[in-house]
Amino acid sequence: MNTPRQELEARVAQAVQKLFSPAPLPPFVRPCPDARHGDFQTNVALVHAKEAKANPRELAVKLSETVELEDIAEKPEIAGPGFLNFRLKPEYLAKQVVARWDDARLGVPLVANPETIVIDYSSPNIAKEMHVGHLRSTVLGDALARLHLFLGHTVIADNHIGDWGTGFGMILFGYKRDGDPEKLRLDPFGHLEGIYQRVREEAKNDPAVNDAAKRELVLLQQGDAENRKLWEQFLKYSLEALEVIYQRLGVQFDYTLGESFYNDALPGVVANLLERFIARESEGAVAIFSDGQLAPKDDPFLVSEKEGFRDNPLLIRKSDGGYNYATTDLATIRYRREHFHAKRVVYVVDGRQQMHFKQLFEAAKRWGYGDMELEHVWFGTILGADKKPIKTREGGDVKLKALIAEAEERAGKIIAEKRPEMSEHDRAVLGRVIGLGALKYADLAQNRNLDYVFSWEKLLAFDGNTAPYLQNAYVRTRSIFRKAGTETVEGIFAKVRAIQKLDPAGAAIFLSEPAELALSKKLLDFADSLHMAAQEYRPHYLCLYLFELATLFHKFWESCPVLTAEEAVRNSRLVLCDLTGRTLAQGLKLLGIDVIEQM
Ligand code: ARG
Repeated sequence: MNTPRQELEARVAQAVQKLFSPAPLPPFVRPCPDARHGDFQTNVALVHAKEAKANPRELAVKLSETVELEDIAEKPEIAGPGFLNFRLKPEYLAKQVVARWDDARLGVPLVANPETIVIDYSSPNIAKEMHVGHLRSTVLGDALARLHLFLGHTVIADNHIGDWGTGFGMILFGYKRDGDPEKLRLDPFGHLEGIYQRVREEAKNDPAVNDAAKRELVLLQQGDAENRKLWEQFLKYSLEALEVIYQRLGVQFDYTLGESFYNDALPGVVANLLERFIARESEGAVAIFSDGQLAPKDDPFLVSEKEGFRDNPLLIRKSDGGYNYATTDLATIRYRREHFHAKRVVYVVDGRQQMHFKQLFEAAKRWGYGDMELEHVWFGTILGADKKPIKTREGGDVKLKALIAEAEERAGKIIAEKRPEMSEHDRAVLGRVIGLGALKYADLAQNRNLDYVFSWEKLLAFDGNTAPYLQNAYVRTRSIFRKAGTETVEGIFAKVRAIQKLDPAGAAIFLSEPAELALSKKLLDFADSLHMAAQEYRPHYLCLYLFELATLFHKFWESCPVLTAEEAVRNSRLVLCDLTGRTLAQGLKLLGIDVIEQM
């Protein structure tokens, strides 16, 4: 099912082909910047005039006479130096609305070329409790996974947890000295994090502690039975604690292949890179250096300095024989290609790791994975009211668990004020859906590359670009059906469908009021918003779309009576309510946010 924009583009392309080939590259039909002048606009006449050195307005006139639009739009208007403005016909809108309403996918086509896409997200380091910084990766990654799956791709959600590496030497040393199995079982993150921080402090001043921790790490890496067993326990309890959070967030992974999973592959990776002269030894370590193929300013293995450029190598083996973060990531790329047949890998990781991924992707290309699409979908930091990375009052990291609990509690309080008669149980259920939705949405609605200031008041507001606002709009769309009675509505819908079947070109519904027309047009843009969000890995495009849809729905609700209108108008409006509700619910679902039927 084409969106109106795509349909117009196809028609204009036909006309362009007839008049002056070849056709320009899409997209060349865009929404009109000012809705008073039309719904869509094209500048192709201007583009061709430049190429053909012709008068753009004359070409625009020719184009407007040639383009076949009868069934979808009014005769185009010529504006400015040679733009063509299009206004969609209400009958076309009505037909398109019904077609989407009658489709389980709401008119969203599956992609023509589905790919296998690994999405690497959340990926916390397990010796530390999940904190607010992990919210973005988890929530963004989950939304991107849902979105790509819905569009028809094969998605592999892979949680690349940090369960290996230097930190575990300190933890093993500290745990053997003052660990407590009971505490480990009950609060694995808290206990391990406490131990880790203590040992790290001690190691700073006491080389003996530092050495002891290193020895523990070497023992672990050599497969020492005791250390291995302890580490397995750390992992087991940490994974269980993580799972509790993921369940609360409603996030699921297909795989949790942490860094340790790739450990045995690392020597082979380094040997291979050395053999092929992609890496070389340097001061006892092994690293990947610039191969001189890229312009120095684009070369991630160089950094610019006052006098020219200096090496910025990617380390893959330390001088003590240990391996690096990048070594594991290289092994992971190979695994994802060989075992998952991934065409694309999307890393949803903090912007502070941009250099790491630039180097990693370039190294992978040189290693022979240049045909894989590797994307670092990076994000900024969540800030406190003081515009600094958010912290607790005591100056510690804001724990994700506590943040979720607070969101639910605050939402519960707001509901208690709005609906004092509601039972405690119902309030708690609503509080969860609204609180969690608000927390996720606050993150998703931002341009991910920007830092944003966290504010409970803003994210829980019932008006504005927030989850509660959208959830509330959804509740409104549903309330009309309760009022009318489901049976009546089902009867009405059956009739609309029957009319549509008899005469697909005819009108089962009628649209005339400006608010109706505006809402209808927005409803037809759903697929475009999804493709845009997927293409740039930016769920905030979808958020913005849903916000605009909800706003237009509220306007429609205020100016267009539904149940009291005469039959054909009533039916149209019921279809609009139903399609709006389903579009809101589907859009929110793709963001990992639930709706409620009643508020
Ligand atoms: N564990 C890492 C961290 O917390 C993030 C891992 C991201 N994924 C990856 N393949 N490098 O910083």
